[in-house]
Amino acid sequence: MRLGALLGTLLAFSSACLPSTFARSVTGDRVLVLVPAVEAALHEYSVFLDSLERRGFDVSVRAAANSSVVLHTDGDRLYDHVALLAPAAKRLGAALSVQDFIDFVDTGGNMLVAASAALSDFQRRLAVQFGVEFDKRGTAVIDHSHYLRTKAPSNHTIVAASRLSNIPAVLSPPLLADEHRAIYFEGIAHSYDSQIPLLAPLLTGSRSTYSGSPATAERPSSKSTQEQLSGRSLGLVSVFQSRSNARVVFAGSTALFSDALISAEHSANGPFVTDISQWAFQEKAVLREIAHRHHLASAASSSSSSEQPDHYRVANVISYEIDLSVYHDDKWHPYIADDVQFEATMLDPYLRLTLNHTQSADSDAVATYHGDIKLPDRYGTFTFSVNYKRTGLSSIDVQDTVAIWPLRHDEYPRFLSAAYPYYAGSFVMVAGFLALCAAWLWNTEPAPKSSKPKSS
Ligand SMILES: *[C@@H]1O[C@H](CO)[C@@H](O)[C@H](O)[C@H]1NC(C)=O
Ligand SMILES: *[C@@H]1O[C@H](CO)[C@@H](O)[C@H](O)[C@H]1NC(C)=O
Ligand SMILES: *[C@@H]1O[C@H](CO)[C@@H](O)[C@H](O)[C@H]1NC(C)=O
Repeated sequence: MRLGALLGTLLAFSSACLPSTFARSVTGDRVLVLVPAVEAALHEYSVFLDSLERRGFDVSVRAAANSSVVLHTDGDRLYDHVALLAPAAKRLGAALSVQDFIDFVDTGGNMLVAASAALSDFQRRLAVQFGVEFDKRGTAVIDHSHYLRTKAPSNHTIVAASRLSNIPAVLSPPLLADEHRAIYFEGIAHSYDSQIPLLAPLLTGSRSTYSGSPATAERPSSKSTQEQLSGRSLGLVSVFQSRSNARVVFAGSTALFSDALISAEHSANGPFVTDISQWAFQEKAVLREIAHRHHLASAASSSSSSEQPDHYRVANVISYEIDLSVYHDDKWHPYIADDVQFEATMLDPYLRLTLNHTQSADSDAVATYHGDIKLPDRYGTFTFSVNYKRTGLSSIDVQDTVAIWPLRHDEYPRFLSAAYPYYAGSFVMVAGFLALCAAWLWNTEPAPKSSKPKSS
């Protein structure tokens, strides 16, 4: 009951810190939060956990050592989202393996992984699977210019990070616009594999940020080993979105989510934590294809319900349409962008065109993208696709296989301008033949002169 009272007093306080959005997740409400110890965590992360509950989640806070915690039973997910706030735990739940977590993400579960300087090998191995490599044991993120200023002497391990990647799908406009934001971060750095298109750094170090041992942090080490992470290559928070559109956030700091840093002076941790948890748990930037269709442009466009043809003739003009919606703030909205492209491919892309958008008349939550497309003058089996992948947004990959047939013999135009030399050639041939015949028929040999005397 003492806990209830505490949560009550924090409720008023937290609503001042965290923007109160009541977005619900698209994919489900069950959240598992794994922490070192339940009682302590309810105090330490009360603002964060409380904001999850107010957003409509069914939050289960469990000790990492609780051996009855499993992610799946009989192949079904028991939770829709997992937040790992127990970085030091060597084993999680019922001896869950790295593969269990990968299966969880493969089946559409989302994860929020928070690390700290005391990160276990298990969670390092988990992160490596997603292209995130946490720095060596015993290191921490240090910044001697940007740190949380407290009265007690500090060794500058609570850095004030501010270098956010411009990913509007994840970060809300006020946070991106705020020039003086300070996101307090105490924990471990990671390097992110920039070759992986599914992974994007969200918060990185500034020029004075580096990763090193806090024990030797009194003086900035004189540019020691080159393998040391620093600056922009030093990842603090990274976001990953799988091909199945499951989302994983890696944050090098559990303290990022703590009440202490959310309530620190000038802290932007509250809005930042809300943004990344809303993104991770599919409360925003969820893109969806409602329908798509194509038909001959000359066919009556009003009869849109008519079935799609499975073949066209070469160089037909077709009309292609796709309807897109995006989810945020508890509702589906029309998705408006200028970079949705249509492709027709047969091994190589033959066409790539940007579609125009119009507001759909049927529903105000749908934007319809439309294009009148002249098919290539080439027959074969083509794939019509809209493959739309943007950082932070769910990816869309719509494909139709359509045959393009050559024209039938009676479908060609009567005269082809390109063929005029041939027409001319055949007429010249006919004319020549007639001239030859005429010459042969009427060109009689001159009659021989009657030089012989008449015989009688
Ligand atoms: C362990 O987890 C189960 C559910 O997964 C829960 O019912 C139980 O209370 C937990 N035990 C402890 C000690 O927290
Ligand atoms: C320096 O940071 C480490 C790790 O965060 C901490 O354990 C230690 O107490 C700090 N030392 C001082 C002098 O603040
Ligand atoms: C989009 O609209 C412009 C201007 O109306 C037009 O020129 C273009 O062909 C359209 N794009 C497609 C793919 O239909």
